[in-house]
Amino acid sequence: MNRRLNSALDFIVKNDDEQSMSYAGGKGRLWQDIVSLMPPHEVYIETHLGGGSIMRNKRESALSIGIDIDHRVISKACGWNIKNLELYNIDAFEFLSKYNFTGKELVYSDPPYLASTKKNRKYYRFEYSDEDHQRLLSLLLKLKCRVMISGYSSPLYERALDGWDVKELVNVTHGGLRRENIWANFPFSADLHDYTSIGGSFRERERIRRKTARWVNKLAQLPAVERRAVLAALIQSSDIEPDFANRLVRGRSLGALA
Ligand SMILES: C[S@@+](CC[C@H](N)C(=O)[O-])C[C@H]1O[C@@H](n2cnc3c(N)ncnc32)[C@H](O)[C@@H]1O
Repeated sequence: MNRRLNSALDFIVKNDDEQSMSYAGGKGRLWQDIVSLMPPHEVYIETHLGGGSIMRNKRESALSIGIDIDHRVISKACGWNIKNLELYNIDAFEFLSKYNFTGKELVYSDPPYLASTKKNRKYYRFEYSDEDHQRLLSLLLKLKCRVMISGYSSPLYERALDGWDVKELVNVTHGGLRRENIWANFPFSADLHDYTSIGGSFRERERIRRKTARWVNKLAQLPAVERRAVLAALIQSSDIEPDFANRLVRGRSLGALA
């Protein structure tokens, strides 16, 4: 089997098995569902980095930017092996209000939980008041790029993000199963930055992994011209937009499977 594909598949299984929630509010196994909703982008900006379960596991972007107000989080992140990663130890609000957006960014925000939705006491050294949430949401609403926000359902969030696309995800936390939402200022679609974590469950990811491997192997055994003929026919006969096909050809859309 193709070596790059093999290592991508190893990566998926390893992370499925070993990824545990080491950080209160960390995304635990949820990172796969979140990554599998992220649209294509060149610059990835994560405003409340925490344990960085998304940043560390998603396919790298041309530029990745991690922000956290806690200097210990940023010190830890300095050791991550991520190409073109910039880290900022400042308030997310300050960063977002000064950054020069071009539209090619994806901003992902996972702020500390709203006090009213928390089951337990204080989680972080730096918490958010309702006013902080409101202020952050007002700023995120104005950004001229794609934005995704994680949080628990609450009147404040439902009101502020009315009209955004939303998906409910089930997270396994230290306190048991919790449903949380992910909102986006664009419609969730099949056009993704990274396809290596799709499936929604370990079993499904395995099924897709095996199917992908089978198809890749089959294609790899064809003479080059036949392989191209099959690929061309596939692209023409399916609902693949020209833009997606172009990115495929440039090898930039399938993540590690490309
Ligand atoms: C919910 S956690 C992020 C969890 C992360 N997504 C993960 O999977 O580990 C919230 C993070 O926001 C940080 N934070 C709190 N207030 C902040 C602010 N004003 N600006 C930037 N980061 C802040 C905290 O230090 C904490 O690391």
